[in-house]
Amino acid sequence: MLLTPQATPIQEVRDPLLDQCGVRLLVKRSDLVHATISGNKWYKLKYNLLAARQQGQKTLLSFGGAYSNHIYALAAAGDEYGFKTIGVIRGEACQPLNATLQFAVERGMTLRYLNRVDYREKESPVLLEQLQQQFGQFYLLPEGGTNALAVQGCREMLEGVTEPFDIVACACGTGGSFAGVVAALNGQQQALGVAVLKGADFLGNAVEHWVWQSIAQRQSNWRIEYDYHHGGYAKVTPELFVFMQRFEQMHGILLDPVYTGKLFFALYGLAAKGYFDRGTTLLAIHSGGLQGRTGFGLS
Ligand SMILES: Cc1ncc(COP(=O)(O)O)c(C=O)c1O
Repeated sequence: MLLTPQATPIQEVRDPLLDQCGVRLLVKRSDLVHATISGNKWYKLKYNLLAARQQGQKTLLSFGGAYSNHIYALAAAGDEYGFKTIGVIRGEACQPLNATLQFAVERGMTLRYLNRVDYREKESPVLLEQLQQQFGQFYLLPEGGTNALAVQGCREMLEGVTEPFDIVACACGTGGSFAGVVAALNGQQQALGVAVLKGADFLGNAVEHWVWQSIAQRQSNWRIEYDYHHGGYAKVTPELFVFMQRFEQMHGILLDPVYTGKLFFALYGLAAKGYFDRGTTLLAIHSGGLQGRTGFGLS
């Protein structure tokens, strides 16, 4: 199974708002790594797919909400690399399916719904046993796809970056992708994570845990900003919407309101507050997530 990533460019964003603050912004267009397994999802799945293949597993099973980027990418990856896929979805079945689940089904994914109470027990041995009885053996990926192999893959998100930068920035859900980036830092480089969930206090420990698992050493050159969630996961404020619209029009880069919109909004907001020294070069990872949909009504 060939899992070599398509090379993705670095795009410089020239913007008077950043010029005023003396900040240079480069964007790592990891969103372009694959048409449907975009951004961090490609890297998170890479070593998991290889492990599943090595173990002789034919089926991949994972969990997610009805709008999960991870479920979408898993369905695409299963279809492309010859695995059956099962998506265990939080909540009740709804018809017609939304675009994420419709795509997943078109790519051959079997959906199994769990009500919100049972979903909380999603990784209990009892439920996993039931799922095995229903579907047979499977390779299990956690909700959001973060595990040690996912972090290993995300360490490769900065591979091939030759442009010097001071701070690499990445949106954080579970923190797995950011942990991979932190584990890959060199020398004086620093990393900045932007939490997209409200009350994401778990992130600091999660990132430390995954970095330790990955490179068996502590890194102190990273931090997480918690004030840019815009009300919580998948919540959008008018300011965020306006920002994304301006950004897309000026720079031709589509952002999603759940992850990358919040990341770039935070970078602009922090720059305006003088958070970055003048002369700082930021490298923002565009972790994908638009799932082939265009613009969320933005364009
Ligand atoms: C576009 C995008 N960016 C960032 C993330 C956050 O990734 P993580 O859960 O590894 O923090 C996700 C979730 O997979 C995502 O879909």
